[in-house]
Amino acid sequence: MKIQVIHGPNLNLLGQREPEIYGRMTLEEIDNRLSRLGKELGCEVFSSQSNHEGEIVDLIQKAGQQVQGILLNPAAYTHTSVAIRDAIAAVGLPTVEIHLSNIHKRESFRHHSFISPVAIGVIVGFGAYGYEIGLRALVHYIREEGKKIGK
Ligand code: DQA
Repeated sequence: MKIQVIHGPNLNLLGQREPEIYGRMTLEEIDNRLSRLGKELGCEVFSSQSNHEGEIVDLIQKAGQQVQGILLNPAAYTHTSVAIRDAIAAVGLPTVEIHLSNIHKRESFRHHSFISPVAIGVIVGFGAYGYEIGLRALVHYIREEGKKIGK
């Protein structure tokens, strides 16, 4: 099984960016942990980060041809992007939405997500560990769905 992890804008600055909100772990450390956990779970994990909405749409479309699921932190685009939402709906891959911070405890403009209605689930507020919870949940979901349709 192959999983694509996509990190949205400003997440390349993790570790130094508002550490009181997002923690001190760098993106590289998060990706290394996911790749290790992937091996444990029997799947291959590919990670990409982009600060550009169209590039994220391209990554999702490419993922549609190459992997079985997406772990996505759309970052600020969560609250603005119909294009990213439509890309996920178009490829139809199971997608788990991740946020390091609890967006519901923060400014009201962060309470709405364009992505949640097309995600299979959302994990918020657990910091970097949320990605690991998300990967476990996604792999479990794909395996269970596979059993149902006899894959
Ligand atoms: C975020 C929450 C977003 O509101 C914010 O714009 C981010 C990161 C999170 O992981 O908590 O960049 O997605």
